[in-house]
Amino acid sequence: MGFPWPGARLRTTPGLVLQLDGFGGWLARHSVSTTAVPGLRLDHLRALQALGGGGDEAALVAALAADGGPPLDEDTLDEVIDTVLGHGLLGVEGHAHGVAGGFALASAQLPMVADAVRVAAYGAAITAHAPGKRVAELGCGTGILSATAARAGAAQVWACDEADVIETARSLIADNGLADKVQLVQGRSFALMPPAPVDLLIHELFGTDPLEESVLDIIRDVRDRWLAPGGRLLPRGFTVWAAAYGGAGFDAVEPLPARLTAALAPLGLHPGPLLGAADHPVRRPEGGLRAPPAAALRGPPVAVLEVDLHDDAPLPAGARRHLLRLDGDGPVEAILVWFDIALDEVRRLSTGPAGPPTHWGWQVHDLPAVINGHDGDLLELEVEVCTEDGLEAVRLRALRRAAPDPS
Ligand SMILES: C[S@@+](CC[C@H](N)C(=O)[O-])C[C@H]1O[C@@H](n2cnc3c(N)ncnc32)[C@H](O)[C@@H]1O
Repeated sequence: MGFPWPGARLRTTPGLVLQLDGFGGWLARHSVSTTAVPGLRLDHLRALQALGGGGDEAALVAALAADGGPPLDEDTLDEVIDTVLGHGLLGVEGHAHGVAGGFALASAQLPMVADAVRVAAYGAAITAHAPGKRVAELGCGTGILSATAARAGAAQVWACDEADVIETARSLIADNGLADKVQLVQGRSFALMPPAPVDLLIHELFGTDPLEESVLDIIRDVRDRWLAPGGRLLPRGFTVWAAAYGGAGFDAVEPLPARLTAALAPLGLHPGPLLGAADHPVRRPEGGLRAPPAAALRGPPVAVLEVDLHDDAPLPAGARRHLLRLDGDGPVEAILVWFDIALDEVRRLSTGPAGPPTHWGWQVHDLPAVINGHDGDLLELEVEVCTEDGLEAVRLRALRRAAPDPS
């Protein structure tokens, strides 16, 4: 296959690590924390070097002609590009470089597969929409959602995942007697196309911060290239919620600045500049570990971000302000953040404290200091969606307690 489409610009993955093994062979990792890819040849390294600053196929061919190495025929060049793309050592310029390393092993995916709330909600939506449809799944992981689509009577299912976990998907799908109904391809979505446009595109690329797996960049790209006209994204969007939280001694931890000071004191160090960075710390207690803290919400939640993945409108740029109204008197320790997934027009999957806990848990943005809140007080939140270099995040900070609203 080689370059995924004419004119595509590829770029060597930022953070690429090259090493020599004990026998003089080259190893590569697409970031320091990922598994090494052995057996790289000189022509792979030449291509990575040629595409270090990014380039299209013509630029690569020109760079290889100029680097003094032997010429590569078209088949070898295609194989070289397929290999380095397939291992995540190369990416499509301007798009997210993923977090695949964390999902390479099936064991890393078990908490989400064992999350009955998530699996049941996705299962119901897929069973409703897949029958008779051409289906694609982006990032199939262990294969459970593609298997569900096949079992529900999809006309065909094509699924991809960049990580080695796809081998687990292959076994799971075969063990369930669905191997002839699901086609699996290992690779990064930006460089892949299903055999034909699809009617239904399934994905689950949500982190505890729902943006942290680069869902916006990845889904908008495949939506435009893989979906047939009128095709459906499942899920079609999501909403991020925030609420004032406090009172229950939740997690029973000291505020972060105090913990930093205590941890460094035995070393004779003062945390100094780290205390500034600790002003807006985020904790991620796992949902499955404790009852959801709905009772400790100190006021109604506010939607701080709504995303319709079918919609092309850019997300609001810059920081936006929201007001959280406090109900009753008492301390406010933190801002609790969670999200709801719109699986379709009617089915929603919530990770919030009002529902059963999910493997996502929620985010707890500790306030720099506990606030002694009064009924009707307003807490001002600043929320910014960051999408720089394909790295996405919802940044949030509670600014201050505003004057009570006279209305
Ligand atoms: C949160 S897991 C979900 C797995 C599976 N869909 C499920 O719901 O159980 C996301 C998966 O997407 C894969 N992935 C992330 N970005 C990708 C991309 N751009 N192309 C292909 N796979 C990707 C990861 O390797 C991971 O296995």
